[in-house]
Amino acid sequence: MKFVIANDHAAIELKETLKTWLEARGDTVVDLGVGPGDKADYPDKAEEACLAYLAGGYDFGILCCGTGIGISISANKVKGIRCALPQNAFAAAMAKEHNDCQFIAFGGRIEYQDQPVDMLQAFLTAN
Ligand code: RB5
Repeated sequence: MKFVIANDHAAIELKETLKTWLEARGDTVVDLGVGPGDKADYPDKAEEACLAYLAGGYDFGILCCGTGIGISISANKVKGIRCALPQNAFAAAMAKEHNDCQFIAFGGRIEYQDQPVDMLQAFLTAN
């Protein structure tokens, strides 16, 4: 599968974790986010990734900011994009199965009970 991923400066490590996990599975990840030492405004990163997705060629998009809140709100303002901010793996699966989300968002400063990688896996394996 092919993913577009983007992040602001508050979720660089999380973005790398998700990207590494996907690439280890054999997926292709196009990274539009910032790296160490860089800063970005999360609305800009959300819009960039959503427009890239809508241009075609991607299966899913992943967005990360400090909480996941700002970047998911921004993504959902883009016409045609449905972005989930799941609380746990169950919600992540439902985001695809019941809400047909193409994007999933996570927070790099959040202490999750279900790790983002596990939520992403639940999202991807859902029907
Ligand atoms: C950036 O410091 C932070 O506010 C942002 O990443 C995000 O958490 C907003 O929702």
